[in-house]
Amino acid sequence: MKYELIAPCHFGTEACTKKEIQQLGYEITEVSDGKVVFSGDERAIARSNIFLRTTERVLLKAAEFEARTWDELFEAVYALSWEDLIPWDARFWVAKANSVKSKLFSPKDFQTIIQKAVVRRLQKAYRREGERLPMSGADYALRVAAYKDKITIGMDTSGESLHKRGYRKMTVTAPITETLASALIMLTPWNRERILVDPFCGSGTFCIEAAMMAADIAPGMERNFSATRWKNLMEKQLWYDAYDEARDKKADGLRKLSDRPDIQGYDIDAEALKAARENAKLAGVQELIHLQQRDAALLSHPKKYGFIITNPPYGERLEDKKDLPELYRTLGKRYAALDDWSMYLITAWEDAEKYLGRKADKNRKIYNGMMKTYFYSYLGPKPPAVRPSAE
Ligand SMILES: C[S@@+](CC[C@H](N)C(=O)[O-])C[C@H]1O[C@@H](n2cnc3c(N)ncnc32)[C@H](O)[C@@H]1O
Repeated sequence: MKYELIAPCHFGTEACTKKEIQQLGYEITEVSDGKVVFSGDERAIARSNIFLRTTERVLLKAAEFEARTWDELFEAVYALSWEDLIPWDARFWVAKANSVKSKLFSPKDFQTIIQKAVVRRLQKAYRREGERLPMSGADYALRVAAYKDKITIGMDTSGESLHKRGYRKMTVTAPITETLASALIMLTPWNRERILVDPFCGSGTFCIEAAMMAADIAPGMERNFSATRWKNLMEKQLWYDAYDEARDKKADGLRKLSDRPDIQGYDIDAEALKAARENAKLAGVQELIHLQQRDAALLSHPKKYGFIITNPPYGERLEDKKDLPELYRTLGKRYAALDDWSMYLITAWEDAEKYLGRKADKNRKIYNGMMKTYFYSYLGPKPPAVRPSAE
């Protein structure tokens, strides 16, 4: 069966999610702020959950309609054939609702009314009026978005958010989300042939995501999803196939990495390094990354054409703000001393560019959750193309 599937992503990274979905072979039907919609069947549900790096979850679009009163909302929801999607024993709930520029606003009321309307519908359809849902089966969570009175109801196929790949057991203050880190890497021209250094690596997110990309390791290949347990809509075999595909790609990816990629992470804090090492091991990429305790003031590299991709401190704690000018000045100087490198830096600190000492070639606004951040690009030259030898 063909569905419309919704992939929410970080504001400003829609192009990455769109490209990833197209590379999986699915047709995009809509791109708007913070989400990409595409069409796909049950197999697409399994594959998008396992393979997409930049989306927070995959929702199956269950309904879209307009409503301006709570009665209209109830009637519209009750009229839908929820029994085609949700079995009687489902553990079903409305997980989240948000509303922008709409008459109906209260998330709590959205949740209560939609919950009630779906339960009534299921009771009627399953001829169990007045009976409680047993709530003993698989998870079927709904997520609701109202925009200019258009209500979209998505059924969550992912469960736990997709940034939880399963490798980040140890963390540091202010880690970057895995989905955002991978999107930012995709916004740069970095590829596995090129050097990548994160001088403020913290728990190692950029390095680990880059190594997974280099080795073609699917972010979701070690985890389950809500829809893994959906017996009514998905055949188990589809999941086995998608996990097999991920294992084949990984084996192939590791084989193609003839040389170890040059991915390096540094941090001044020993605890952060410990976390990064542990996480890299859990992600299965510890052999692909070099991690070391080092002050960014000592940053150097003998080779040309590398990439710095990083998320320096941005004054997460107020008392740290005073150190930022010196830290960014030092980073700017160390970068300038590297030979023909590019630098990509995400930070919430507005004065970063001033202290880095050079105007960025590009500055994108990216939302990290509700936090406005800047993604500065300093573009270095491309390495000369390698000509095949005359022999
Ligand atoms: C915002 S966090 C980076 C988080 C990281 N992207 C992650 O996902 O875990 C900034 C990191 O910079 C490190 N740091 C602060 N001053 C430093 C310096 N002078 N040299 C190297 N690392 C430093 C901190 O220990 C912290 O781990």
